[in-house]
Amino acid sequence: MEILGIDIGGSGIKGALVNTDTGTLTTDRFRVDTPPEATPQAVALVTKQIARHFDWQGILGCTIPARVEHGVVHTAANIHNDWIETRVDDLVSSATGCPTHCLNDADAAGVASIAFGAGRSRMGVVFFVTVGTGIGSALFTDQHLVPNTELGHLPLHGDAAENWASNRIRKEENLSWEEWAGRFQEYLDLVEFLFAPDTIIVGGGVSRPEKVALYRHCLQTQAELVIAELENEAGIIGAALSARQQLVS
Ligand code: BGC
Repeated sequence: MEILGIDIGGSGIKGALVNTDTGTLTTDRFRVDTPPEATPQAVALVTKQIARHFDWQGILGCTIPARVEHGVVHTAANIHNDWIETRVDDLVSSATGCPTHCLNDADAAGVASIAFGAGRSRMGVVFFVTVGTGIGSALFTDQHLVPNTELGHLPLHGDAAENWASNRIRKEENLSWEEWAGRFQEYLDLVEFLFAPDTIIVGGGVSRPEKVALYRHCLQTQAELVIAELENEAGIIGAALSARQQLVS
C-alpha cells in the first residue's frame, strides 16, 4: 500500500511516497526548506505544498521532533513554542485534505528500522537513538514501540543529554569525532544502566558510513551496537508505516 510520508526536520521538510509493504520509496524525495519561523501554520503550508507536489489525496504520515500523544504535541525542545498543544493530526489533515497520522520523529525512524532496517527481527529490548540537532529515542520491546520516550533529555552533566552529546553540540563546540564519542559513550552508559537494552541502534546524521569510521572504535557497550541502515529516509518510511498501522483497519 502506498502512503505519503513527510519528515519535518530543523532545516528541511521532506516527503516521498512509500510502499509500506517493502519500506521503499516509490518516488524521489521532495524537499522544502523549513520556514525560518517554523510555526505550526507555516509548517502546515509546507505539508500542503508537498501533498500537492505528489498530487496526493490518500493517507499521509508525518513526523515531528516533539512528543505527540493522540494527535496533540506536548513539547517543543527544538521547535517553535507555538507547537505546544497543537492538534497536529487535524492541522496537517486540514492543510492537505489527507487523513493524517503524526508521530515523534525518532519513533518514526525507529519504526522503520524495526520493520525494514537494522532492527528487523530483533527481539528483546531495542534502544534506537537518533543523533542530530537533538538526541531522539525510540524504545522497543519484542518489536513493540513504547512511544514518546524522549531519552535525549536524560540528565547528563546538569543538563539534557542532547545538550552534551548531540551532533549539533559536536559542531558548535568544534569537538573531534573522538571527543564527541567520549561524550556519547557516557550517554550510552547511562542508557545501559537504566534500560539494559539487548541492542542499541545508532541513527541520524552520525550514522553515515564515512562518519561511523571516525568514531566507532571509541564506543563500547554491553548491548550489541549496530548502525542504522536507512539513513535519512527512515523518518519518511516510518511515518508512512505508522500511518498505515493507525489509520487502516
Ligand atoms: C526532541 C525529541 C526529538 C529529538 C530528535 C529532541 O529535542 O525533544 O522529540 O525526537 O529532539 O529530533
